Amino acid sequence: MRYRAKLCIFPVHFCEPYVSPGKLVIAIDGPAASGKSTTARLVAEALGYVHVDTGAMYRAVTLKVLGAGTDPSDGEAIRDLLGETHVELRRDGTLTRVLLDGRDVTEEIRSPAVTRAVSAVSRHRAVREAMVREQRRMGSAGGIVLEGRDIGTVVFPDAQVKFFIVAGIESRARRRAKELQDRGISPDMRALVEEIRERDRLDSTREESPLKKADDAIELDTSDLTIEEQVRIVVDRVRQVAEGRA
Ligand code: C5P
Repeated sequence: MRYRAKLCIFPVHFCEPYVSPGKLVIAIDGPAASGKSTTARLVAEALGYVHVDTGAMYRAVTLKVLGAGTDPSDGEAIRDLLGETHVELRRDGTLTRVLLDGRDVTEEIRSPAVTRAVSAVSRHRAVREAMVREQRRMGSAGGIVLEGRDIGTVVFPDAQVKFFIVAGIESRARRRAKELQDRGISPDMRALVEEIRERDRLDSTREESPLKKADDAIELDTSDLTIEEQVRIVVDRVRQVAEGRA
């Protein structure tokens, strides 16, 4: 199923300051740099829901693995390490801070070293089981937007609203480049495209919970959409479902 954007000339929070859609679970999946995070965060804000960036959880575990000098391909060593790993997502205004064993690693988990290793770490069953357990616990009361790779297929296959967000490789690389520039890093576009492609390849070909669209997810191509349009489409869908119109 595909969606067309309805135009809204104001940022979404001005158009519709608050909608009261009950306590649904909203799953937003998709490949790297497809625009999931910003969309999920703003949708959660518009609905008064909790936002969970599950990629941040896998990144925090990866930081721990790298810091411990553990080989990202060594599933057994990583399983042992998980027993002494505590990842917490803490709300800080509209931001979510990521704590690893009590230390704020919000910026560190976005480093190139973590980005390069995260797919190798997150393919292990023990890592996935630990993260999924925690994500289900966080989502059990509903009123939550979770974004990742396997939310609609594995974590919450019964989520009432599911989106699979895609975008052309060029727009994804441009978005990722802008994020890096905002953090004072000047990116090499060719290397960025390669890194995104390789991460998608690893994420979608792994044995455990590969990245794929759930059969009942709505595919949304964000290549030519503004962020306001993306948010509007998801919020409209949530409202339809909440009002029994979908
Ligand atoms: O969303 P983000 O790009 O930060 O995710 C980083 C990595 O975490 C992904 O490339 C993927 O390997 C892993 N991930 C996952 N399952 C999720 C979310 C992220 O395997 N639900």
